[in-house]
Amino acid sequence: MVYGVILAGGIGSRMGNAEKPKQYLQIGNKPIIVHTVEKMYVHPEIEKLLVLCPEQWVSYTKTLLKKYIRTAEDIVVLKGGASRNETIMNAIAYIEQETGLDEETIIVTHDSVRPFITHRIISENVYYARQYGACDTVIPATDTIVESRDGKIISEIPDRSKMYQGQTPQSFCASRLKELYESLSEEEKEILTDAAKIFAIKGEKVYLVQGEVSNIKITYPYDLRVAESLIKDKN
Ligand code: CTP
Repeated sequence: MVYGVILAGGIGSRMGNAEKPKQYLQIGNKPIIVHTVEKMYVHPEIEKLLVLCPEQWVSYTKTLLKKYIRTAEDIVVLKGGASRNETIMNAIAYIEQETGLDEETIIVTHDSVRPFITHRIISENVYYARQYGACDTVIPATDTIVESRDGKIISEIPDRSKMYQGQTPQSFCASRLKELYESLSEEEKEILTDAAKIFAIKGEKVYLVQGEVSNIKITYPYDLRVAESLIKDKN
């Protein structure tokens, strides 16, 4: 079974908006999270959709989805966790409790604040997660990546042709991710904030799915303005 898992458990501190987390801000004629949910919801290979948000926003999110999506009753809204990975683990715990986990249980985890995800990206995530157990959506780095360990002086400039920028979805065999996550120490959990990195660090293959430059993450107020113009372009 393939689950879409929309990660909306964050509070959007970098957006600096105290009124509501950024996933609930409007772009075009609807909230960001609605755009994102719609893209996943209509994809034929996503069999069940889970949305995870801060606990105090659960009922608001349910109401919002009902308002914009006629058949939203079959979308499950759950509380997220203290970290992004904990939010993913809450989704896995729900699936385990409802239907159990097996080798065929795939989760396509996607940031609620990346509303420009495409049909192709979702299809390829499902395909490669089934094939390899883990995949990550990326685009080739356009800027040179400069590494500095102290934030003052360059320690390394890796070869740009081997550098990619991570996007989402990241898709996994749910039982394998759970197993790997549970094998981490509390210290490792703090450092390994990216779920794909958990696989990579344990020596497991993570397949690369080609993302899109337009699959932006809305993080800062500037990104909202970019998103507004992308929406206008599409209409
Ligand atoms: N996320 C989540 N659970 C958390 C933290 C983040 O599901 N405990 C989600 C966010 O809601 C977002 C995605 O992960 O859709 C990407 O994270 P980011 O852009 O960092 O979102 P926030 O944590 O909300 O932003 P900030 O770091 O500015 O507070």
